[in-house]
Amino acid sequence: MKSSSLLLLSFLMGVCEVQGASDFRVCAFNLQHFGDSKVKKSNVMQTLVKIIARCDVCLLQEVRDNKGRALPQLLESIDRYDTQHQYKAVASERLGRSDSYQEQYVFVYRADTVTLIDKYQYPDDRPGDVDAFSREPFVVHFKAPRTAIKDFVLIPQHTTPTNTTKELDALYDVLQHMRKMWKTENVMLLGDFNADCGYLAKKNKKNVRLYTDKDLFWLIQENTDTTVRSTTSCTYDRIVVHGERFASAVVPSSAKPFNFQLEYELTEEQALEVSDHYPVEVLLKADMSRSSLNGGSWNQKPSLFKFFVWFILSHHFFRMLS
Ligand SMILES: *[C@@H]1O[C@H](CO)[C@@H](O)[C@H](O)[C@H]1NC(C)=O
Repeated sequence: MKSSSLLLLSFLMGVCEVQGASDFRVCAFNLQHFGDSKVKKSNVMQTLVKIIARCDVCLLQEVRDNKGRALPQLLESIDRYDTQHQYKAVASERLGRSDSYQEQYVFVYRADTVTLIDKYQYPDDRPGDVDAFSREPFVVHFKAPRTAIKDFVLIPQHTTPTNTTKELDALYDVLQHMRKMWKTENVMLLGDFNADCGYLAKKNKKNVRLYTDKDLFWLIQENTDTTVRSTTSCTYDRIVVHGERFASAVVPSSAKPFNFQLEYELTEEQALEVSDHYPVEVLLKADMSRSSLNGGSWNQKPSLFKFFVWFILSHHFFRMLS
């Protein structure tokens, strides 16, 4: 009687923990020329904020914030909108071959679920292939203890449409560089790869090592539309993970575009004011080993709710025992 009650108690506590543990969302969003003019449109900002605050980590692309005011305003709006989480951002320098057209990569992330361990601006000086990229990857290493994978590296890329094949192939070199430098296999590559329609011909895919290497898993299915315009259907935006271990830490079939036009009931015109791309996203599994009685988050992160449940349950069971 006594031992079976304790077993039941621990089982119930486990159930509470599993229900409390939620999946972890990684997103990549091309904001299409994000700067002062978008910040001024409050309906556009509202939508952007809602989209970004769905994610634990969100890569923003085409941030063209020349005066350095738009990004801080976006972050302030996210903080005001979602007080449940603390948001931080880490941004690259302005990147691009010409002075008149530059973009930044920005990662917005929840400081309460993920910690930035390291960042690295890929120098793009590989012998024999100097200046392969127009927007060199700004690589980040995150620690996310509540996910099954625990820590991972993100390599962002917004390719130049006319050089897509070349840049995607060069991304493979960046992957090898980062694996060696940071001694990790847990790498995700993500962003607007322009990897479809006129920019990546089928016959060229065999020349792209990021495609042909068997250790790489392309999670966004071919023939998925990541563009907003109803007249286009292209799988430009992608999420690729490296290694079996990372692939198995992903929630099956969770990688997809987020159709914010449908979700927030916007007209096509309203949606296009926000961006011509949908964000793409993937869920990482929560760390289930932490549901055990002795291990992990039960002890490390006592919430009032869990304590309350624990109190009620133990009260109830010890009354049953007596
Ligand atoms: C395409 O790549 C080549 C070689 O790296 C570069 O010289 C050229 O400027 C690139 N084109 C664009 C539009 O960036």
